[in-house]
Amino acid sequence: MRLELGVLVSGNGTNLQAVLDAVGDGSLDARVRVVISNRAGVRALERAERAGVPWLVVSHKDFASREAFDAALADALATHGAEWVLLAGFMRVLSRGFLARFPHRVLNIHPALLPAFPGTHAIRQALDYGVTLTGCTVHLVDGGVDTGPVLAQRAVQVLPNDSEESLAARIHPIEHELLVETLRRLSTGELDALAVERRRQR
Ligand code: GRF
Repeated sequence: MRLELGVLVSGNGTNLQAVLDAVGDGSLDARVRVVISNRAGVRALERAERAGVPWLVVSHKDFASREAFDAALADALATHGAEWVLLAGFMRVLSRGFLARFPHRVLNIHPALLPAFPGTHAIRQALDYGVTLTGCTVHLVDGGVDTGPVLAQRAVQVLPNDSEESLAARIHPIEHELLVETLRRLSTGELDALAVERRRQR
């Protein structure tokens, strides 16, 4: 089944790029219907433009409430034909109202082995804690911060002299691989997001 993707971004967009590349070379059966950023002028939007993918800015600052912002996002995604939503460095937490519009179909990529180190400083926190193994996680989004059911994970060794930058430089390419691979498994049906969510609810 081809995945009709809407991608939400806030920044650099290297994960978006990995998806665009995989779609472009035919190795992922998906279409990026739209890229939406809550911030103007970010690199991710340049990547969408270069790939010929529709993009727009929906700024949270233009809305009186989080619910109104989320409703505008969901409307824009639906209007562009997105059926799956990928959070690729999107820095806002989505409400349950948004998630109800795309049940079991909102995915996030996180640079740690959840449930360890949720939140925005996962790589630094893993380093500060002194773990010797960290990695990345693709998960379904629920109402919490990086708390939803895990779809896939991959480990990355922490080296004794790692800095936040050096560790990040090894995690990021693994994120890109894991994300594309997970989308591929969803598109082929090898991975069933609904079944993963049900297992978590038991
Ligand atoms: C990635 O590390 C992702 O795991 C996290 O935000 C970062 C986004 O990077 N959620 P990019 O914008 O895809 O380059």
